[in-house]
Amino acid sequence: MTTIEIRSKEIEKLRHNINEHNYRYYVLDDPIITDAEYDALYKKLKEIETAHPELVTVDSPTQRVGAKPLKAFAEVKHVVPMLSLDNAFSDEDVEAFDQRVKDRLKIHHEIEYACEPKLDGLAVSIIYKNGMLVKAATRGDGETGEDITENIRTIAMVPLHLRGDDCPTLLEVRGEVYMSKKGFMKLNAEAEKKGEKIFVNPRNAAAGSLRQLDSRITASRPLEIFCYGIGVVEGTPLPNTHAGILECLKKWGFRVSSDTRVVKGAADCLAYYHAIEKKREGLSFEIDGVVYKVNSIAEQSKLGFVSRAPRWAIAHKFPSEEVTTIVEDVEFQVGRTGAITPVARLKPVFVHGVTISNATLHNLDEIRRKDIHIGDTVVVRRAGDVIPEVVMVIKDKRPSSAKKIHLPHKCPVCHSEIEQLEDEAIARCSGGLFCSAQRKEAIKHFAARRAMDIEGLGDKLIDQLVDQALIENPADLYALTLDQLANLDRMGEKSAQNILDALESSKKSTLARFIFALGIREVGEATAKNLAKHYADLKPLFSATVEELQTIQDIGPVVAHHIATFFSEKHNQKVIDELLKAGIHWEKIQKSSNELPLAGKTFVLTGTLKTLTRDAAKEKLESLGAKVAGSVSNKTHYVVVGEDAGSKLDKAKALGVPVMDEDEFIRFLQKSV
Ligand code: IVH
Repeated sequence: MTTIEIRSKEIEKLRHNINEHNYRYYVLDDPIITDAEYDALYKKLKEIETAHPELVTVDSPTQRVGAKPLKAFAEVKHVVPMLSLDNAFSDEDVEAFDQRVKDRLKIHHEIEYACEPKLDGLAVSIIYKNGMLVKAATRGDGETGEDITENIRTIAMVPLHLRGDDCPTLLEVRGEVYMSKKGFMKLNAEAEKKGEKIFVNPRNAAAGSLRQLDSRITASRPLEIFCYGIGVVEGTPLPNTHAGILECLKKWGFRVSSDTRVVKGAADCLAYYHAIEKKREGLSFEIDGVVYKVNSIAEQSKLGFVSRAPRWAIAHKFPSEEVTTIVEDVEFQVGRTGAITPVARLKPVFVHGVTISNATLHNLDEIRRKDIHIGDTVVVRRAGDVIPEVVMVIKDKRPSSAKKIHLPHKCPVCHSEIEQLEDEAIARCSGGLFCSAQRKEAIKHFAARRAMDIEGLGDKLIDQLVDQALIENPADLYALTLDQLANLDRMGEKSAQNILDALESSKKSTLARFIFALGIREVGEATAKNLAKHYADLKPLFSATVEELQTIQDIGPVVAHHIATFFSEKHNQKVIDELLKAGIHWEKIQKSSNELPLAGKTFVLTGTLKTLTRDAAKEKLESLGAKVAGSVSNKTHYVVVGEDAGSKLDKAKALGVPVMDEDEFIRFLQKSV
């Protein structure tokens, strides 16, 4: 064999391996190698290809990085039109659909439906000739779409060629390209940093990313796909059910949702709808409903189409989380670090059992970008527990009296100047701890459950304490008297005593909690833990330099600067000193975690514990060097079981992992200290 032949064989083997691992990862969701091992294979292939460019083929896994920018998208006429779906919004709509299907087919028994999540992205068509990806298009108007072949090729979960020997000579696959919730947040966070365009929702982000003339940009975007159907196919017989076709697609290397189910009758469709609705929040991507499709292909053919939608399928949509209302006013709130956040006061609207009367407007740039005025009719979106957001303005409805929104020059609370650095989107009150709003927020943060955990010291109480000048900073909390507390609104002697007790027990803390509680800009719990682990004591932090801080895990120049500035400030030093004098203390951390008694042991906590919270149990275990994991595997050493433990206990039993109840756990901890 010549060198070229040897190289060629090596390349072939590497490509085969990479494609198989890709398949296991994306389609089967069952990877057998680590990311690092995968990267090593990819790197090796890239090296050989760089040395032998003549061996590069278009379907090599390395050819997903995007091509030269286009001037415009070419048009693609769909051989089979890309239809849309009729919508159902209620149980009755679904029952009526099922009845229509039965009537048309003259069938009296229950119809079999294939149920799928309805993904909130954009439909694409991808064509394979003799197994090779040759063209991809957007849906467009259903008849003609845009040629996005280069862009689709950059999506790692789209196979560049089909798997297996029995693949069709011609295949048009249809699916939905979308962006995961995480991918969307990350993309927007990066865009915000760079001052670039922010996307309204994952669907817009996916559409904007896919319709890029420069496919190298598409390659950098976290796009994903689920395939749900077929357009044209030649050269191989297809199964006679939709579910069978999805299985075929999987076999050929396409990613198909693992939440597809085959059910019988409308009642089971509705049960599927509710099951998916329950899962919705926890899914890594957005869905806007479910789709029911008649499973039998023969029945589908009999049913046919009306205008632009098939008679054999329907989308059952989730109730909209978007509503329209009016911006009645805009107020500016002052946060813990002085950040001024504009908040829209809305004409109250009722959505799914909650009244929405406020929405965050983030910052002035965002207001300008969305062109929001007071008096505007706006679309407001509520997703899960997050603060409602204004999605867009309905410009046609803007009254002539609409008012532009201006950033105030002075802080609405303390009247200090408002500053806005040129490269920062956020405006800040320059009053620092002189500003009572910032003081209140700082104290609230200090008392929070994840910080010093002062039980019962809620926001309202802190507002009163600051407003009545009883406290100015966190250290003042520990000097409060029973009388002072008992005289506050909605307080009596008993609740006042409870607060004093809570303050007393908060004094025994951990270094990480204390650092987090100080409220240093951009120092969250994870950074506080890293700092505590690194220094094991508070003292060295006072003299830590920006350079030194940057050697710690996850700390970059900006955070390092915030930490160093915080500890060099006289006022902060004084407050910390007073806090320590008031008696706040923590157990000394042993520096080397592998010397700790539970080093190397992994625990899983499940169910409700009676004597301590899960957070407290986790903290205790971690302080002894153990790791606390979220799920049970054969790497778990112990499972601690509280009341109402669920599937984790079953899994532990199945895997033979030792289980402890709460009493055993407490004894175990006492022994381990
Ligand atoms: S089937 C004729 N299945 O919804 C069948 N569509 O409103 C047409 N979509 O354009 C499509 N998830 O973009 C189908 N599991 C799914 C889907 C799905 C999302 C989108 C697709 C389509 C639109 C129709």
